[in-house]
Amino acid sequence: MRNVKILVLGRTGQVGWELRHKLSCLGQITSVEYPEIDLSQADSIRKVMRAAEPAVIINAAAYTAVDKAESDPDLAAAINGTAPGVLAEEARQLGSLLVHYSTDYVFDGTKECSYVETDTPNPLNIYGKTKLAGDQAIESVGGNYLIFRTSWVYGSRGNNFLLTMLRLAKERTELRIVDDQVGAPTSSECIAQATANILSRVLAPAGDGLDGRSGIYNLACAGETTWFGFAKALLTKSVGTLGVSIPSLIPIKTSDYPRPAQRPANSRLSCRRLAETFGVGLPHWEHALDLVLETLAEGNPPFTTP
Ligand SMILES: NC(=O)c1ccc[n+]([C@@H]2O[C@H](COP(=O)([O-])OP(=O)(O)OC[C@H]3O[C@@H](n4cnc5c(N)ncnc54)[C@H](OP(=O)(O)O)[C@@H]3O)[C@@H](O)[C@H]2O)c1
Repeated sequence: MRNVKILVLGRTGQVGWELRHKLSCLGQITSVEYPEIDLSQADSIRKVMRAAEPAVIINAAAYTAVDKAESDPDLAAAINGTAPGVLAEEARQLGSLLVHYSTDYVFDGTKECSYVETDTPNPLNIYGKTKLAGDQAIESVGGNYLIFRTSWVYGSRGNNFLLTMLRLAKERTELRIVDDQVGAPTSSECIAQATANILSRVLAPAGDGLDGRSGIYNLACAGETTWFGFAKALLTKSVGTLGVSIPSLIPIKTSDYPRPAQRPANSRLSCRRLAETFGVGLPHWEHALDLVLETLAEGNPPFTTP
């Protein structure tokens, strides 16, 4: 297993960064980042894939600026919609496994309960539409692939809700936070750990390989909350360790906080298929949050807000 060549894309991102740490026992990890690879350019992707010849390619790179995508649809479509199909074609040519990440934003959020993988997507915004196009491009190429749909990603580094709340709590006496969108905050650390656990099974010499299990799998922390609930929990848990004092927290409706991109009201993902297929389950979001806050409190990596 040690000689398996694993190529990670998106190393500077939240998930990509954690992947390089969690995957290190699984094989020979290399990563390529922009501009050495430009996912908006098919030629660039093909060149890197053909030079690297990885047995496993993990694509944690994406156009993730949800609001900006509304006014930048072509670039978002190239990176999120077209590039995954090119990666899948190259992976299939090489006989390698493609691991790719997708999003709860492929759904419109009108379902009463958690979304399962077979639910019909109906994205509300450009980001969701382009991510769905990427999922469909991979599926139509076929080969060996795993698409992990996750939600509300945050971590100890990068641009995310948790670091923004910690910063704002130091700057303001009052925070107004959306309380009518439901989902599961999922740490980049948990996503990377779950990916590593699944790959360790699939790649083990005595393991059973992917064996017909190519497909889409929901992969998110257990439990559910709102953005307001998440903010309240993370700030309450940070008092005393991260020098945070809790501002007055005001729950508001999505309609009170208009943004360029519409968001689904329900982002809950059922992860039953992942558990039944690979025996992997992510912890409750509050437990994952404790671990991220511990990392921040230890100052490793240093606490930096975007
Ligand atoms: N963030 C969320 O809340 C969320 C929720 C659900 C699903 N997801 C999915 O989870 C995955 C990981 O997300 P994340 O939050 O870790 O992303 P992220 O922190 O925004 O990182 C994105 C990565 O993509 C790279 N990238 C962007 N444009 C590129 C290009 N043209 N060529 C090459 N690389 C490029 C970025 O490189 P630079 O640093 O050089 O820009 C960065 O390394 C993505 O597939 C995302 O759609 C995210």
